[in-house]
Amino acid sequence: MHKRICIMGSTGSIGRQTIEVIKEHPEKFQVTSLAVMKSIDELEEQIHILKPKKVVVFDKEKAEILAKRITTKTKILWGMDGLLEIAADDDTDIVLTSVVGSIGLLPTLKAIEAGKDIALANKETLVVAGDLVMKAAAKMGVRIIPVDSEHSAIFQALNGEQTSHLSKIILTASGGPFKDWTKDAIRHATAKDALKHPNWSMGKKISIDSATLMNKGLEVIEARWLFGVDLDKIEVVVHPQSIIHSMIELRDHSIIAQLGVPDMKLPIQYALSYPDRIRGNIPRLDFKEVTSLTFMEPDLERFPCLSLAYEALVAGGTMPCVLNGANEVLVSYYLNGEIGFYDIPKYIEKAMSAHRVLEYKTVEELLEIDQWVRRWIQSQIK
Ligand SMILES: NC(=O)c1ccc[n+]([C@@H]2O[C@H](COP(=O)([O-])OP(=O)(O)OC[C@H]3O[C@@H](n4cnc5c(N)ncnc54)[C@H](OP(=O)(O)O)[C@@H]3O)[C@@H](O)[C@H]2O)c1
Repeated sequence: MHKRICIMGSTGSIGRQTIEVIKEHPEKFQVTSLAVMKSIDELEEQIHILKPKKVVVFDKEKAEILAKRITTKTKILWGMDGLLEIAADDDTDIVLTSVVGSIGLLPTLKAIEAGKDIALANKETLVVAGDLVMKAAAKMGVRIIPVDSEHSAIFQALNGEQTSHLSKIILTASGGPFKDWTKDAIRHATAKDALKHPNWSMGKKISIDSATLMNKGLEVIEARWLFGVDLDKIEVVVHPQSIIHSMIELRDHSIIAQLGVPDMKLPIQYALSYPDRIRGNIPRLDFKEVTSLTFMEPDLERFPCLSLAYEALVAGGTMPCVLNGANEVLVSYYLNGEIGFYDIPKYIEKAMSAHRVLEYKTVEELLEIDQWVRRWIQSQIK
């Protein structure tokens, strides 16, 4: 039987690689729906190849243009209503969430409520509302299977282990493009410099997050919710080769790691095939070519975003939502060349100081805070 898949964010870095995996295993996987923001030319090609039942173009005008062009039976939807419709579609078994940012939160919750398993790339959803999302998943008995390579590694290492035996999660970080730069050089780094990641080819937002190490901070918060561990049991280690994708330490101090070449198709495929493991088309790791595996502590002085993420997690409640919303807006300003590299942590810190932590109960409360912090940052920068 085919697993029927909805890809939210099919024209992005994760979305495209997901399509490659699906095309390599036509006997296992089938696409039922796709969603994009506005890349309708690429979506049109995907429609011809994959023949989804429904597609969503978030941008209404672009959706209307596509509707005039398409001759297939594919239904074209738009906006949040469209995302919510495909998230809950009866013909879908698993929703792969690869949109960028907290926009993924409502469709992910909708999919969970409709009993779909989630292959989760969209880490911002767990950063903003990890508690709500994990509780909803537990209530519905659905799986949240991580796509992020670090969390996939931990998920794989935990296979067959009792969570109560876990003493520590060790998240590895490549260190990003500025790992060896001085603070002064980083201060003047442009978005173009930041987009040159040494090991991974990714979308723009996550590439900037990797350069500031906010990505690792978001991953710490993601790990806290996915694996139910507190911050004192999560350690970040810089490992520039990105061969060890992450590790767990058990209570007898045994360490289990997952290794492989840095290729997102592996965690994507595992998330889709889980609990099965299927043939891979990913290059093998040849240990004769691995000359060294090195490790070092992250430098919180040059990369303060990581400390801010720790602080947000400790503060709890609505604070990670503030951290995330501020970061999303600031990254787009940085990408447009409107602010400097260290303005990102500077204004996140200010936003966090301006916010009084609330214990949220509903997703609506979180979305209000998300909107507030975006407006607050805009007012500061303008
Ligand atoms: N890239 C990686 O290697 C990697 C690794 C681990 C985790 N992640 C996580 O995966 C997520 C996606 O990252 P990415 O690098 O693949 O991003 P990306 O390359 O920027 O792609 C984002 C995708 O989401 C679509 N999208 C954006 N807003 C949307 C909306 N409102 N409605 C529908 N579709 C929307 C985009 O469509 P358009 O093309 O129309 O803009 C695009 O298809 C992020 O949360 C990231 O942190 C990525």
